Amino acid sequence: MCGIIGYIGTRPATPILIGGLKRLEYRGYDSAGLALLEPKSILTYRSVGKVAHLVEKVRLNLTPERQNELTVGIAHTRWATHGAPTEANAHPHYDKSRRICVVHNGIIENYRTIREKLQAKGHKFDSDTDTEALSRLIGECYRGDLRKAVINALRQIEGAYGIAVLCADEPDKMVVARKGSPLVIGIGEGECLVASDPSALVAHTQRVIYLDDGDVAVITPDLVDIRNLDDEPIERNVSELGLDVGAVEKGGYEHFMLKEIFEQPETVRNALRGRIDLKEGTAILSGMNATPAELAEIARIIVVGCGTSLHAGMVGEFAFEDVAGISTEVQQAAEFRYRNPIVDRNDMVIAISQSGETADTLAAIRKAKEKGTKVFGLVNVVGSAIAREAGRGVFIHAGPEISVASTKAFTGQVAVLLLMALKLGRTRRLSNEDSLKLAQEINRLPELVEYVLKQNDAIAKVAERMAQSDHAFFLGRGPMHPVALEGALKLKEISYVHAEGYHAAEMKHGPIALLTPGVPVVVLANHSPVLDKVWSNAEECKARGARIIAVVTEGEPKTDLADDTIVLPPCSPLVATIPAAVALQLLAYHVARLRGCSIDQPRNLAKSVTVE
Ligand code: F6R
Repeated sequence: MCGIIGYIGTRPATPILIGGLKRLEYRGYDSAGLALLEPKSILTYRSVGKVAHLVEKVRLNLTPERQNELTVGIAHTRWATHGAPTEANAHPHYDKSRRICVVHNGIIENYRTIREKLQAKGHKFDSDTDTEALSRLIGECYRGDLRKAVINALRQIEGAYGIAVLCADEPDKMVVARKGSPLVIGIGEGECLVASDPSALVAHTQRVIYLDDGDVAVITPDLVDIRNLDDEPIERNVSELGLDVGAVEKGGYEHFMLKEIFEQPETVRNALRGRIDLKEGTAILSGMNATPAELAEIARIIVVGCGTSLHAGMVGEFAFEDVAGISTEVQQAAEFRYRNPIVDRNDMVIAISQSGETADTLAAIRKAKEKGTKVFGLVNVVGSAIAREAGRGVFIHAGPEISVASTKAFTGQVAVLLLMALKLGRTRRLSNEDSLKLAQEINRLPELVEYVLKQNDAIAKVAERMAQSDHAFFLGRGPMHPVALEGALKLKEISYVHAEGYHAAEMKHGPIALLTPGVPVVVLANHSPVLDKVWSNAEECKARGARIIAVVTEGEPKTDLADDTIVLPPCSPLVATIPAAVALQLLAYHVARLRGCSIDQPRNLAKSVTVE
């Protein structure tokens, strides 16, 4: 949440900062601001709303000639935590002398205490933010050395931060630091950048340094000097990003979400690439870095995650139990971290996260490690905090997910969970024949996704009727229950339609009271051993006047229950979760488009939930 970009070099900083903010806008978009170093002071512009408003403000106030002279700056796009999304609360924030400026991503938990102490010393705060407490504290600690001031201030801070700091008295440098919020330094030719994530850097460099928690770096155009909070030098590797600009652009699609939905045959293929052994009917997951003995001793799996990643974990639960015969629990990461979970060394904790930055999932991993459990990460973003904290696991290789609503990450996560289940199942109860069959089916996933994407126009038609309703239900059983939850989540977050996902059998235990004639009920009625039961549940809804949108498997007998139909390719119930999820993503997308919603940046949301 919140995006930071900084530049120090010889090129005009303003377009680089604005370009970076546009790339980072998906991390937060309720206000934006930038600070530029002038020869003897710091100039700031801030505005409420999207980055476009800031662009306009800068255009009106800063001539192109002036812009060309200013080659050092920091900028921020905000997702409000402390204080409303107003201009006063937008970053950057100054210190008391207005010679130091800070942008911050994270939460300073003890900001009230700091604020009160500073107020007692005569500070008058301009904003309601926690960040201003930090910027003023840095100013209080300043004795002519910005790095030392930042370190001294950070040693008094509790909470999470990714920060970039400028000082008018030290115009040749920028100081950046992280703890709990991501920050990556980009190294160019005679210039350096810093950003909350690499998407803001790809247009400028491929060479990056991922900072670790507790790192404080002084950045100049030619040098990166990293220290810890004891001011001792630290070595960090320079990595190659391996990303091209195209990966973070819309590529002709109207929205990132649609682009990412349509990328899924490729992203699922990437998740599977080199990992299926079709001869042996098993999976090769070297990142798990686990010995056969270690895998054999796993008595229970606990999956932790949040939101869409949690739903992927719930599909995983069915896979691990059905395929590998391993008892599996799925826990919301925030719950796991605070509930004193009962886990031991024979358990395996799998932490799922697209961003690799979700605060609760990260804390859950730390909790699991404290308890001596084996921990594996299932992450998209390489170099992210969760990937590093887990130490071992599997990357899903979906590429940057820019749309706030997660799509391709979900299908990548489920694909990898199926591979994990196959691998564990192969060494346990799965017969040779069943292993080979499942491996072949998983291998066909990209074409199964294509099959659904071809129905895009038909799904858009279904959405036309659905878009008229302010309520919707999604029902499924078995592994389709989490897909129903995910379908409802997609619809509510991007179209603001009140959507509920339920186990199909649960409707009659209460929620059915909400049904009124014409309310759309999406029923996941794919080929499965409980299909008849699903149809009975759909019948109960139909009897109350609901409009049934059935997601069925090709070749299944037709039913007159459905008002609209979306067709899945023939495959087993577990594998069908992926094409079914794609169908529901498209449905949500078209409903949101017809309702004129801000699809890539839904209200109140932001990507990467780095706060609790
Ligand atoms: C929904 C969505 C969120 C995330 C959740 C966890 O579309 O994107 O529910 O899934 O915030 O994020 P990650 O996977 O980054 O840990």
